[in-house]
Amino acid sequence: ITIAALAVLGGIAIGITFAVLSARDTPPPPPELLPLDWWKHCVLYQIYPRSFKDSDGDGIGDLKGIISELEHFVDAGVDAIWMSPIFESPMVDFGYDISNFYDIHHEYGTMEDFEELLKRAHVLGIKVLLDFVPNHASTESEYFINSEKRVPGYEDYFVWADSPGPDPNNASIMRPPSNWVSQFGGSTWEWSNTRQQFYLHQFAVEQADFNYRNPAVRNEMFKIMKFWLDKGADGFRVDALPYLIEADPADHNGTYPDDPLSGIINFEPHQLGYTIPLYTKDLIELYDIVYEWREFVDRYLEDNGGDTRVLFSEGYANVTMTMLYYGNEDGETGAHFPFNFDFITDLSAKSNARDFVYVILRWLTYMPHGGVPNWVFGNHDNNRMPTRFRHNMVDGLNALNMLLPGVAVTYQGEEIGMRDGHVSWEDTVDVEACNRGDEDTYQLYSRDPARTPYHWNNSTNAGFSTGEKTWLPVADDFKEINLAKQKEDTRSHYKVYQSLTALRKEKTLAYGEYDIRALSDRTLYLVRSLRSYDTFVLLFNVGKVSDVIPLDRVAHLKLPATVYISSVHSTRIAGDIINQEEITLQAGEALVLRTEPV
Ligand code: FRU
Ligand code: MG
Ligand code: MG
Ligand code: CA
Repeated sequence: ITIAALAVLGGIAIGITFAVLSARDTPPPPPELLPLDWWKHCVLYQIYPRSFKDSDGDGIGDLKGIISELEHFVDAGVDAIWMSPIFESPMVDFGYDISNFYDIHHEYGTMEDFEELLKRAHVLGIKVLLDFVPNHASTESEYFINSEKRVPGYEDYFVWADSPGPDPNNASIMRPPSNWVSQFGGSTWEWSNTRQQFYLHQFAVEQADFNYRNPAVRNEMFKIMKFWLDKGADGFRVDALPYLIEADPADHNGTYPDDPLSGIINFEPHQLGYTIPLYTKDLIELYDIVYEWREFVDRYLEDNGGDTRVLFSEGYANVTMTMLYYGNEDGETGAHFPFNFDFITDLSAKSNARDFVYVILRWLTYMPHGGVPNWVFGNHDNNRMPTRFRHNMVDGLNALNMLLPGVAVTYQGEEIGMRDGHVSWEDTVDVEACNRGDEDTYQLYSRDPARTPYHWNNSTNAGFSTGEKTWLPVADDFKEINLAKQKEDTRSHYKVYQSLTALRKEKTLAYGEYDIRALSDRTLYLVRSLRSYDTFVLLFNVGKVSDVIPLDRVAHLKLPATVYISSVHSTRIAGDIINQEEITLQAGEALVLRTEPV
């Protein structure tokens, strides 16, 4: 071997050593930067189909209408849509009373329209989720009709119970099995003359509760899910889960136990709130069913491939019962996430910055390890976001939604700051308002104001429909608040929304740490940071008067910082440089600042 050859070998050896060393010097990409599954950081948009876009002039939104506006989601930066129920229904509860779980409601279109919607949405890269309503079926469904007639195989499809006897004061009325109160007021029990028994309905009389102790019902639910997954749906929003199962008479000497009384004297026995729903809500057995459904969609994915099919569960419950939808500590997994309604139920125009921080951290604190958080600001059951908070908070609230970790959920109209519409008693159609309220009180209960048609532009019916009349009146502020105008205006809620959804593509927002604190009663900050990537800081004055912010107390905020997004009324605009220790934020003002990596 020559000296030259030795030198070459030595050089190789040194080269190898260097390669090893430099591999050690450049750390491998942190595991937290591996691609996220599509649903873990998506912008999810709720469509209320009846009010989104009407294609045929009957005053009712429909699937062709949605198809014609799919580009809106691309333009807005939305990744996935979920649609309130589009299935055959007598529309007592506008689709939440399904009479055929396997077909499209005729006012909304046909199965072909649905297939077209799916195909076009998928071409645009938008996932499509359906609303799965497992707790109840319309009393016009075949299931119920058969069950009422005791057709073999269907006898126990619903929760049927004998009467304990006639009413002592009126022998022609049968006494219900228990004192349970329906979500829409009145007894949960309705007498069937045909069957000479009561059936249970936790919602309207026309929405009969399935009997989940019957394996045939549980199987049918798998069949329904499979049917829509086979069509290509990407998953489901799952409705009204806390009401899935009620106390079993087998555990109570063969009778249905009364719910305890709340003791609140303003309530009469037929009113929601008269009782505490001990035997009718949040029963522990319901979670096993949710865990079964999760196994089912996971198995579906294994068998069929493709992208993850998801379950997002709906239920208003305390934090402990809510977190159980994610799964339990025995390792059972449930929904991909339960919707987080805290911004609806626990925060309002009355909340201060400390309340915001406390409520946000509660979710993040109680959420099981590895869970994906999500944030909901409105839906078809609650007053719209700008109405519940203050109009000047729209951009700040959308910014919170988009900058918090996890999934951002938008209810149709929030991207343009749509407010509640006024709906007169004469025009009121919501079953909850009609059953629980009267001419003087209906506004306490009505969900119609949050369901008025979407404002596309300033033409007839806000561009929603060419019809003479729309199923709910169009809100009268549509000339000032509509999508077309907001696309033209230099500054608008919509433009802020677009910037925010674009910002979510930054690695810092997808993977970064969060730090959220109140600087005062009025102002909070939310910092998102990720080593070696730019830091983003949201400053938001949720108060009613201006506030002076000490920027040195904002963690990781290195000056100078650049204004990246500002709420529409802010005096600052994107690109402005902030380099002073103190700034003043007007009431409702929100700024997203971009600053150096931590
Ligand atoms: C959510 C909801 C309501 C509906 C009810 C029963 O609470 O979706 O809109 O009336 O469940 O399905
Ligand atoms: Mg129509
Ligand atoms: Mg049909
Ligand atoms: Ca039930």
